[in-house]
Amino acid sequence: MNEKQLLEQAQINPVQSTDNISEQENVERIKKMSSDEMITKYFQTSYQPPDLKKARKRRREEVQFHYDFTIPEDMQEIGRGKKFLIRTYGCQMNEHDTEVMAGILTEMGYESTTETNEADLILLNTCAIRENAENKVFGEIGHLKPLKVEKPDLILGVCGCMSQEESVVDRIMKKHQHIDLVFGTHNIHRLPHLVKDAMFGKAQVVEVWSKEGDIIENLPKVRNGKIKAWVNIMYGCDKFCTYCIVPMTRGKERSRRPEDIIQEVRGLAAQGYQEITLLGQNVNAYGKDFEDLDYQFGDLMDDIHKIDIPRVRFTTSHPRDFDDHLIEVLSKGGNLLDHIHLPVQSGSNEVLKRMNRKYTREDYLELVRKIREAIPNATLTTDIIVGFPNETEEQFEETMTLVEEVGFEAAYTFIYSPREGTPAAKKKDDVPEEVKKQRLYRLNALVNKQSAASMKSYEGKTVKVLVEGESKKDPNVLAGYTEKSKLVNFVGPKSAIGKIVDVKITETKTWSLNGVMVENMVEVK
Ligand code: 5AD
Ligand code: SF4
Repeated sequence: MNEKQLLEQAQINPVQSTDNISEQENVERIKKMSSDEMITKYFQTSYQPPDLKKARKRRREEVQFHYDFTIPEDMQEIGRGKKFLIRTYGCQMNEHDTEVMAGILTEMGYESTTETNEADLILLNTCAIRENAENKVFGEIGHLKPLKVEKPDLILGVCGCMSQEESVVDRIMKKHQHIDLVFGTHNIHRLPHLVKDAMFGKAQVVEVWSKEGDIIENLPKVRNGKIKAWVNIMYGCDKFCTYCIVPMTRGKERSRRPEDIIQEVRGLAAQGYQEITLLGQNVNAYGKDFEDLDYQFGDLMDDIHKIDIPRVRFTTSHPRDFDDHLIEVLSKGGNLLDHIHLPVQSGSNEVLKRMNRKYTREDYLELVRKIREAIPNATLTTDIIVGFPNETEEQFEETMTLVEEVGFEAAYTFIYSPREGTPAAKKKDDVPEEVKKQRLYRLNALVNKQSAASMKSYEGKTVKVLVEGESKKDPNVLAGYTEKSKLVNFVGPKSAIGKIVDVKITETKTWSLNGVMVENMVEVK
């Protein structure tokens, strides 16, 4: 590690240093340390490892909004003639962060590539939600080593949720010295500086802030396509479900100002985007952190409902905060689609309690009843975890009966994965892995059956499809999604891409529909 980087690291988050010594003294001290001591010191001064007790006590510091992001002049041309590649793992939040990083890199002169061998800068935008997501990333880190040996000037970076975990950063610093750069989810706007440091420094650049109170509004973005767009409405999560690492990797809940969101959505409508998805770890908590404003998710949806954009979706909801006003607004329909993704996680009250979900099976069913009453055609999908520590056969069966009772048309199903630093991970677990796998298998069979049945009901019907492009399997076939998020493959003219068209369904499968275009394109705007 060179002197400049030591100095920079010591400056990463000086306010969080517990030491009362001067910066220069600190640098001198750090310079004398072994690398192990260095790692320990680094985490003491600039990083708070996931600690639920501390995190729960997070203070309601005021959210700072910044509208002044710029790329320093000496970094605007730094990528000229060079190419970048970002590999994205995990959720839509990460996909959207990738669009922001692509925007920043483009403004630094870089061009994008999909070819690993062509890239001068490769970033792995990682996911920490389950262990297998992390294993994939470590596999990829290993695969990239020969490329780095062949091309020493290649810059390799790891960012996203995994880089917020102490154990991950520690492992990269100790075992994967070919990684040049590690930065956290709160450091994306620092990318120009970090890339510059990685380019000109000799040692790993690591910058992971636990500082989480800021929203940076004017970051550039290169969106993936011109048809559908992600729009962040809030960041972080304060729910602290006992299995989940997200409140630690993404920080506290903080909402964007309504006027900034509305301006972004209007801009997307003006550019001809057909669909937006409002993003947040828990969108229903939107606005609860405003101190000067009584404006919540229902109000935001009501305002967006008036904007001339054909389709509006949102993800992800928490049943606890899904209030009557939101249901009332959603029942207005129009561009507010009637597909609601509402993660339930378990059908057992005992398990829900241990998960800290803060609702019961009965509360959830009552919410579903209210939604169905207001929006009779609503499609419901969900997320479910099986094999939570000590889940009994009876408790699992309660999940199965809930899935039937609600009639979910699709579900993302997972085997519980212990995440270091979360309360559930400390629990002794008496459920054998094989039993968990069997439960997942049984649950998936039920979900597949329900999905196939819902698909069957479309036979012979005509649906509106937003055409996204050619099918991956056959370029003569176009593919897109219905309002209720059903994948449709059909034969039609290429000119339909980017438009909403009527398709008559001729064949139904478990997870998709086949059809033919029946009419001239429906002109949307
Ligand atoms: N193990 C398994 N699944 C998890 N999820 C979140 N944390 C874990 C975990 N530790 C699932 C939840 C959540 C979805 C995004 O991932 O179902 O809704
Ligand atoms: Fe994780 Fe979602 Fe629970 Fe937040 S609400 S802790 S993101 S599962």
